[in-house]
Amino acid sequence: MLRALLVAPPGAGKGTQGERLADIYGVPHLSTGDILRAEIAKRSSIGLEVEEFLDRGDLVPDETMMPLLLEYVSGAEPLTGFVLDGFPRTAEQAELAHQWGMASGLTFNAVISLEVPAEELVERLVRRGDESSRSDDTIETIRFRQEIYAKDTEPLLEYYEGRGLLIEVDGTGTIEDVTRRIQDRLDQLDLS
Ligand code: AP5
Ligand code: MG
Repeated sequence: MLRALLVAPPGAGKGTQGERLADIYGVPHLSTGDILRAEIAKRSSIGLEVEEFLDRGDLVPDETMMPLLLEYVSGAEPLTGFVLDGFPRTAEQAELAHQWGMASGLTFNAVISLEVPAEELVERLVRRGDESSRSDDTIETIRFRQEIYAKDTEPLLEYYEGRGLLIEVDGTGTIEDVTRRIQDRLDQLDLS
């Protein structure tokens, strides 16, 4: 059963590849960004609380993020497999994820990182901003999200490399090419 994390910068293709991998490996795709945007769309109390963070591209505090995520992974029907996209994003979240994995006996089998040059990331997100309603796809907020990624999230790659879990994949080229590259690497693992 696949239990993978997607840790990659804004616009790298976490959502795009996360959905495809979830389909291929028969597990749910859980995007913390999508979960938060759904709360905002519902105008729930959590949604109202987190909206300003997403609008400015800042991280939502753990006190709000963690219970919401845990509701999905270990709620009424605990998940045994998943592609988790957008979590963890900080060393603290990685530690909480590790504790949760140990407690539930479900450790991660892969951490997938997608490598895309910074200019291409900006181009992709600006294009999406022109076509969609994501409030954080403006040039200033894209830059800020990149800074947050570099400061808080990128250091996690070294941590996961040290634990032998990191799969680094070229995230450029067609969407199908990227999926194939990830699959080639995942298929070398024992996912039983
Ligand atoms: P989140 O939703 O995770 O946003 P993000 O990390 O900024 O990443 P994106 O969703 O913008 O990009 P992606 O990597 O998914 O790429 P995609 O596949 O869409 O987080 C949003 C916010 O929520 C955060 O800023 C924070 O406020 C909050 N949040 C989320 N998680 C949190 C956490 N754990 N803790 C605290 N706060 C949290 O692709 C991008 C575009 O490129 C698309 O248009 C796509 O069609 C296109 N594309 C994809 N692949 C290719 C390709 N191969 N070639 C050309 N174009 C491509
Ligand atoms: Mg996404």
